[in-house]
Amino acid sequence: MKKALLSILLGTSLLVAGCGTSSVTGSGGDDEKKLIMGTSADYPPFEYIDTAKGEEIIGFDVDLANALAEKIGYEIEVKDMEFSGLIEAVKGGQVDLVLAGMTPTEERKESVDFTEIYYVAKDMIVYKDGTPISSEEDLAGLTVGVQLGSIQEDSAKELAEQYGFTVESRNRIPELVQEVVNGRFDAAIIENTVAKGFMENNKDLKGYTMEVDEEEAGSAIAFPKDSELTAKFNEALQEMKDSGELDELVNKWFGDANEK
Ligand code: ARG
Repeated sequence: MKKALLSILLGTSLLVAGCGTSSVTGSGGDDEKKLIMGTSADYPPFEYIDTAKGEEIIGFDVDLANALAEKIGYEIEVKDMEFSGLIEAVKGGQVDLVLAGMTPTEERKESVDFTEIYYVAKDMIVYKDGTPISSEEDLAGLTVGVQLGSIQEDSAKELAEQYGFTVESRNRIPELVQEVVNGRFDAAIIENTVAKGFMENNKDLKGYTMEVDEEEAGSAIAFPKDSELTAKFNEALQEMKDSGELDELVNKWFGDANEK
């Protein structure tokens, strides 16, 4: 009896303490290995909360993480946080990996390791119908929103010097879109596949894809530095590329948004 109670207590504390480590969960028998995936669920169709079903986080990245993990014998648990905190979360071990449509920049590579790229997109300038914007020149004197900690924030700051506009950052993509809709921002820079979804739900929004080639934003999976999981996930990713499984997932979640 005492022993049973102890193992229950131990089991619970293991679950709590086990957060962020690739630990064996459960107090006995069940030795499924679990990985905590950090993401920022404000980014449909990469990751978002399926409001129809409650609080569940779904999307391309979630499907991809599950498929990859399954190939190498892990389970994924998704944890939602702010995009700007994700790198620190991997680095500090609060999460085991990050899939968040995240681009493997040189700066981030100083803190984490990345797998190969699994998807490539471009950026869009999104604005309210009627705003006279058709190229970056037209942004002069305007206010342009970006997500805090994103590569869009970096490139906006560079472009702002060249074209003379003000950059404002927000934590979550829907906040950005809201600021454009209510007129506080004149425009926002958002990845094209994500922007398209918001534009479909709000016919007042228009946008154009930016022609700056170097802004091509690939997504890759982040792991703590020197994690042995990076190579394992790369292998599984290659397998999915070769078998067509990755293409299937891309079609499922991006459909014709994928044709640029
Ligand atoms: N690809 C961009 C970056 O790496 C933006 C990603 C934003 N992701 C998100 N889940 N909100 O900075």
